[in-house]
Amino acid sequence: MYRRQDIDLSNMNSIDGADVAKHNSTKSCWIVLDSNVYNVTSFLQKHPGGAAIILKQAGTDATKEFEKYHPLDYVNDLPAGSLLGPIDPNTLGKLSKQKAPVSNTKSSEELPHISLCVSCPDFKRAAKVVLPRKSYVYASTSANTGLSLQTNLADWGRINFRPRVMRNVGDVDTRRSIFGHPAMYPFYIAPMGTLGAIHAGAEPEMVRGAVRKGTHMIVSTASTKSPKDIMQSYVDEQKRLDNKSPTRLFYQYYMPVDRKKAIELIRIVKECGYQGLWITVDTPLLGKRTLDRVLQAEEALAVGVEEETTAEWETGGENEFAPAMGGRAVAGQLSPYTTWEDLEWIRKNWDGPIVLKGIQCAEDAKLAQQYGVDGILLSNHGGRQLHTAPSALMTLCEIRTYCPEIIGKIEIFVDGGLRDGSDVLKALCLGATAVGVGRPFMYALGAYGTKGVERCVEVLAEELSIGMRLLGVTALDQLKPEMVNATRLLNEMWRPESFRSRL
Ligand SMILES: Cc1cc2nc3c(=O)[nH]c(=O)nc-3n(C[C@H](O)[C@H](O)[C@H](O)COP(=O)(O)O)c2cc1C
Repeated sequence: MYRRQDIDLSNMNSIDGADVAKHNSTKSCWIVLDSNVYNVTSFLQKHPGGAAIILKQAGTDATKEFEKYHPLDYVNDLPAGSLLGPIDPNTLGKLSKQKAPVSNTKSSEELPHISLCVSCPDFKRAAKVVLPRKSYVYASTSANTGLSLQTNLADWGRINFRPRVMRNVGDVDTRRSIFGHPAMYPFYIAPMGTLGAIHAGAEPEMVRGAVRKGTHMIVSTASTKSPKDIMQSYVDEQKRLDNKSPTRLFYQYYMPVDRKKAIELIRIVKECGYQGLWITVDTPLLGKRTLDRVLQAEEALAVGVEEETTAEWETGGENEFAPAMGGRAVAGQLSPYTTWEDLEWIRKNWDGPIVLKGIQCAEDAKLAQQYGVDGILLSNHGGRQLHTAPSALMTLCEIRTYCPEIIGKIEIFVDGGLRDGSDVLKALCLGATAVGVGRPFMYALGAYGTKGVERCVEVLAEELSIGMRLLGVTALDQLKPEMVNATRLLNEMWRPESFRSRL
């Protein structure tokens, strides 16, 4: 590995665009990134997203495409010796032309007016109209046959309310705090990587919507922009609003395999001012994202690569968007070696709240509390990791049954499949502090940018406050387990002899 900043470019001869254009195959593949020429031939087979995605850029200036997915300084992680020298700026016209994306066509339908988005599924329909197929697949894909995602969506409908009537519900208060930071609502924007593939404004575009509406947001390690740039967009938007927004940014942490890098990332996150570390623990490796695989195969075939091995990115560890989006040029982003003991050194390096994201059973929830974390997020990663994983609601029911003593001691969050503000209430009745919403915000961002994010908050907020009134509560702390009927989920719960039911 080399650091580009350590290399004196002035000692290197500039390279003619026509020369770059000749290196456009698996045998020799050069690309231009940020005005410099890189020989990425040896990296092709190591690329987490497959060789095809790079080959499509062979002999061209790939900067724009690269920046959609990664901060530009990620070129530092290309293998040593890749940097060949600066491109001669007068010869840019001689570079190869970008190849048209394969089966990446947008729909011929027109984008619906934003006011036609009155519930979360409307954002999905709108996004499908505007997003290139590749971006839409990235957002919508799920693991294996899709059952985990389907269960997430279905389980919200398997719990019913037990509303109370004739209570004065003239005014409702929807505010909820996360680790002492009040937000306007008990839902926040879940961490999602590579927002640059969804909207040109990437994470800052999402941040502005969150700040304007007073919702908290968790920023992904796999973001297109750097943690510093994203925080700057937050600070700028806050300034514009005279620092009146209660929104806070938290950081989702994919633990790099290399301990030094892992600690350095925590240092950066701290320095930027993120309010909490949400460590994702359900990704020792990337799940099988089925639609991504199909797209990846199509792209490989289009550049003449018959069958790509996926072993490299599976064992090397990668991040969220690897197969669909071309992957990050950094191996070792996900660590299959993580254990509970890692919490010790993390705690030494991070003094704010720690949340474990991706807890999927009562035993791990209890362990997390014993290891002293401040919160847990019950999640199966939006159905993108383990096939037939439990929904967060099912896990919450397990916790109520087998270790209810942790409720109230640590903050419990829930995400996955939430598409209606009133469903937030169900999670809160059962003991959740707040709920994360993922894809609806991603689709809203893709279709309408910041305005879409704001609209999505409004849609959920309206459903939430209507739901509160119809349920007979005026503040979120009035929500109780007896306000829902969760019998259907409880009847399906795993009840081994060794577990004593406390329900
Ligand atoms: C496109 C996409 C990208 C995601 N990227 C990340 C990520 O970088 N880190 C992470 O911890 N979770 C990631 N997630 C999972 C979300 O944080 C969250 O758990 C999930 O989206 C919630 O389900 P929902 O989309 O059905 O609301 C991603 C989810 C999606 C849909």
